[in-house]
Amino acid sequence: MESKTLDGLMQPKSVAVVGASSQPGKIGYTVVDNLIKSGYEGKIYPINPKAADILGIKAYPSVLAVPDEIDAAAITVPASLVEQAAEECGKKGVKALIIITSGFSEVGNRDLEDRIVAIARRYNMRILGPNIVGTLSNSQKLNASFAPFLPLTGKATLISQSGALLIAMDASTYIRRVGFEKLISIGNMSDVDFADIITWLDDDPNTTCVSLYIEGFRDGRKFMDACRRAHKPIIALKSGVSSHGAAAAASHTGSLAGAAKVYGAAFQQAGVVQASDLDNLFDRTLALSLQPPMKGDNLLIITNGGGVGVLATDSAERYGLPLQFAPQDLRDELKKHMPEFGSAKNPVDLTGMAGRDWYEDSIRFAFAHPWVDGLVVLYCETSLTDPVDIAYGIKKAIDESGVKDKPVTVSFVGGEQSEKATRWLVEQGIPTYSAPDLAVNALAALREYAIMQQMLAETNEPCLDVNKAQALEVIGRARADGRDSLTEIEAKQVFAAYGLPVTKTQLAKNEEEAVELAKAIGFPIVMKIVSPDILHKSDAGGVKVNIKDEAGVREAYRTILNNAKAYKADARIHGIAIQEMAPWGTEVILGSVNDATFGPTMMFGLGGIFVEVLKDVTFRVAPVAEGQALRMLSEIRGAPILAGVRGEKPRDRQAMAATICRYSSMIVDLAEEISESDANPVLVYEEGKGVRVADARIILKKK
Ligand code: COA
Repeated sequence: MESKTLDGLMQPKSVAVVGASSQPGKIGYTVVDNLIKSGYEGKIYPINPKAADILGIKAYPSVLAVPDEIDAAAITVPASLVEQAAEECGKKGVKALIIITSGFSEVGNRDLEDRIVAIARRYNMRILGPNIVGTLSNSQKLNASFAPFLPLTGKATLISQSGALLIAMDASTYIRRVGFEKLISIGNMSDVDFADIITWLDDDPNTTCVSLYIEGFRDGRKFMDACRRAHKPIIALKSGVSSHGAAAAASHTGSLAGAAKVYGAAFQQAGVVQASDLDNLFDRTLALSLQPPMKGDNLLIITNGGGVGVLATDSAERYGLPLQFAPQDLRDELKKHMPEFGSAKNPVDLTGMAGRDWYEDSIRFAFAHPWVDGLVVLYCETSLTDPVDIAYGIKKAIDESGVKDKPVTVSFVGGEQSEKATRWLVEQGIPTYSAPDLAVNALAALREYAIMQQMLAETNEPCLDVNKAQALEVIGRARADGRDSLTEIEAKQVFAAYGLPVTKTQLAKNEEEAVELAKAIGFPIVMKIVSPDILHKSDAGGVKVNIKDEAGVREAYRTILNNAKAYKADARIHGIAIQEMAPWGTEVILGSVNDATFGPTMMFGLGGIFVEVLKDVTFRVAPVAEGQALRMLSEIRGAPILAGVRGEKPRDRQAMAATICRYSSMIVDLAEEISESDANPVLVYEEGKGVRVADARIILKKK
């Protein structure tokens, strides 16, 4: 239903240009000119108060004067006139506005943008933009933009948040030979956003892959939902990853939650393949738009050159597809199609003597072999062979193999003839590149897509045994006290309400109570100052560990109080926390932020120096299912420490993953209350012995 409302925008049967002009050089002229030149078969209505016709087409003073229906109106009048234009379009029953005009929220003019959105809502119109280049579609022969021409025809659709980049990419589709069905400039996303278009494109038979250039957006969860529901690959290049969230963070987690990490996590959880730069976006889009996903890890490389074979082998490892030797039966067969000094292991080196026949015979057999999940074919131009002839052979062998559900990419390294062969292969639907690294990277994109699709099938069991009321009561008390952070004891009470394994901790208000509690908990114990005014307890001399008896408790009680007073004379002191001293374990950190785009987001990393210096942490948008939690444990650089190094037993990763799941449920459940939180350290014991949360911090949302 939601998606249907975009039909007028995506497949308009008629387009008005409000602000059409007869003056070359004006955007209102170019858009009409482009509609004509692109061969648009729908009706074009130039709108201009003074002109009788524009570029030979009858013009109207207002959309209200047009005798027929109008599906979409491209708006090219200055910002001050857009409100009136929108109102008239609404009255006319126009279905969508393509607002090319700049001068709205991107320059701080949000009120005007909001007013236009309100008009559109009143009339059930959708808005693309404002501040856009427009929209282009090959299947519609529609260039409703001021980009110069329709892109090279292809099967991908690009949605770009940068107009300038879209124009540049439009032209370069012909140089790079990466074709697109549509190019859509999305601009300020006042109404239609990435998610809306992704949902519409999922039913578009002309689009097989959605390619995104993203600067940033607001509703991260809507984006993730749309991507998760999509049945075709989505690839994203995210820019502006350097300065986000780091400012004013009150927790470790807050200071580490940069845009690169949080967007990266969200893409992974939503099944979105990532591109590292513009070139990579093109290269990966080509493969994702033409080839099926790679369902297993077994990559076979067939080459006529040892050098490119080794380069491709290095790349395969770099992109997560390390080569395995091919099975014996496959090797035996391949050996028949190469000289004695060739190699059938993997990479399969047919040697520089390889002609079309050898390529054909080995590809036909290998591609159909059940062990092979994906194929990379490499060719170095030699004087013995004609690259174009080799290309014909490759295509023929792939067709004759009968394989439709495995991907293949190709790299031709050479001169003009190789270039010609490359173009021909791409036209045949076989992604072909100028370097082995590019061919392997493109195949890796197809593998990443398949892996993420498997992950999306995982279910996320909610934790049912939680006590939200108890957590809210603790938070309510702190708020009533005028605080926006919880003490360690309070934070642990909230954690405990969600079943997190916190160390036993109780508040002693005087020395006698301290002794009683210490005896009840059992020695050795830890004692810590509890003050809303002292966040860094160790710096204030407010922590004593390994206290073994009553005399120790009494002495520590006095020392801690004196230290706290010396550190901050007017600090409010609630008392001293008496804590069970958890035995030593591997220290890790868990934490959360409430990300502006994605909401509650989890962090995991190794604690101590690993988090302080190496920032070896990983993120997921909450809630986090167990499979994802286990992946978090294995994707940090320090993962081998949890797996058990130097004869140490493996740590209890299962318990750790369960703790991450619980923690993530807590931050979703309390998203209205918790701004940032840390559990640091969390001690992880050997397999079967669980984890303990030794320290806790919760910063509340300001209300
Ligand atoms: N209805 C229809 N047309 C109207 C009108 C109305 N109510 N009022 C004025 N017009 C006509 C003008 O008379 C003019 O036609 P003319 O050449 O025959 O006189 C035409 O609309 C355009 O108006 P003009 O005032 O000449 O504007 P402009 O062409 O200088 O600039 C924009 C208009 C939209 C291009 C400009 O304001 C703008 O936003 N530019 C940036 C666009 C951009 O970069 N977008 C984002 C890319 S990422």
